[in-house]
Amino acid sequence: MSSTKIFQVRGQPLPRFPVRNHRMINTVVCGFPIISHHRVSNVLSRTSGPFLGYVPARTDENPFLRGDSNGRFGKFGGKFVPETLMSCLRDLEDEFNFVLSDHEFQVEFTAALRDYVGRETPLYFAERLTQHYKNIARTTGDGPEIYLKREDLCHGGSHKINNALAQAMIARRLGCSRVVAATGSGQHGVATAAACAKLSLECTVFMGTTDIEKQSSNVLSMKLLGAQVKSVQGTFQDASSEAIRNWVGKLETTYYLPGTVVGPHPSPVMVREFQSVIGKETRRQAKQLWGGKPDVLVACVGSGSNALGLFHEFVRDEDVRLVGVEAAGLGLDSGKHSATLAVGDVGVYHGSMSYLLQDDQGQILRPHSIGVGLEYPGVGPEISFLKESGRAEFCTATDQEAIQACMLLSRLEGIIPALETSHALAILEKLVPTLRDGAKVVVNCSGRGDKDINTLIQRGMPSSLC
Ligand SMILES: Cc1ncc(COP(=O)(O)O)c(C=O)c1O
Repeated sequence: MSSTKIFQVRGQPLPRFPVRNHRMINTVVCGFPIISHHRVSNVLSRTSGPFLGYVPARTDENPFLRGDSNGRFGKFGGKFVPETLMSCLRDLEDEFNFVLSDHEFQVEFTAALRDYVGRETPLYFAERLTQHYKNIARTTGDGPEIYLKREDLCHGGSHKINNALAQAMIARRLGCSRVVAATGSGQHGVATAAACAKLSLECTVFMGTTDIEKQSSNVLSMKLLGAQVKSVQGTFQDASSEAIRNWVGKLETTYYLPGTVVGPHPSPVMVREFQSVIGKETRRQAKQLWGGKPDVLVACVGSGSNALGLFHEFVRDEDVRLVGVEAAGLGLDSGKHSATLAVGDVGVYHGSMSYLLQDDQGQILRPHSIGVGLEYPGVGPEISFLKESGRAEFCTATDQEAIQACMLLSRLEGIIPALETSHALAILEKLVPTLRDGAKVVVNCSGRGDKDINTLIQRGMPSSLC
């Protein structure tokens, strides 16, 4: 039998194989005959296997949870892209599937999540917030307990780094020297810029002109981290289109790094997978703290990455309620909101099928929210499926409600949440009184609010507090 030895030099791209035909490949590693690309990593894992506590384990092939092989969740998802992009997306999918069980990738990623990102993030008992809602309800019982999953403590100030770091590592393995991304709130831009600096990749971040103005501190951080920030007329949706256009023109050298669970397959599944560390940690921490599971999980929904990051681990635990909160902006009747699941319908945008904000002619409508990172006219396919299947509940919070929730948490717990996150916190006002005493509520504190202080002063914070 002829054989080929596989070597990967650390920091260099993997040797490329026609991996979809990987069963045709004969290799010998450490004396073992190997017939597939994946088996190589398994053999390497067996030779030295440290604890991979954060490995996003590939445990379930149920299409309800993972999507089918075309990235479909029911009718949602898929790859609505020109033929010229198909081979590039297939290569990406192969690499993604490979790294999920690649020992070297997982060791490096696990160490980076711990030492660079700062995982695991705490599951913090918000004692005064809990007491606040108990006082409002004027119950004699203990009331529900509120916990915050502190993604705001991640490096860069939000959950975005979990995914940005993993995908930047994939970009390097694919031999790309340049990364492009789009950002709204700037959090994904900062995360991507940081990951690229760490991995020595050139980074260009596209950002809408209005968002650049609102999130100026994040723009400065991106520049300080060595990224080029390109301004695009409009908001996040326009920046996303421009980043995709830029990527498509330079496929050989450039990696498009999506910050959320939208786009053609495999992007939504990849981002979800790298964010699902949030829910995995939450399960473990809940077990340690109170010996059980959370009763309710709450997260804001822009396109769905922090929500799925928390929810995905619990989708099959039917006794755990999943509550997503969209931005009602100035009110659902005003037309100025980002409440895609509340009032949108199904269509195709940025390469996949999902719920969208669109008019009768299928033209995309411009979303609005005080939380800039929620201003996107769509949601991811998996989130769309969770709505349609009834597994998750979705509700909305207005700009004003988010501002109040932001101030409440700041004053009661000394934590300034991002305005995006504040939408999730805002729903506690209605949710908590409906829950039994002792119920455990976990809110994903997806990011910190330093970036929003100017917005708060200009648009929302009562002058008495300025
Ligand atoms: C802190 C924070 N939370 C939430 C979001 C919304 O995005 P997603 O729905 O993908 O979590 C953003 C987007 O920028 C954000 O910055």
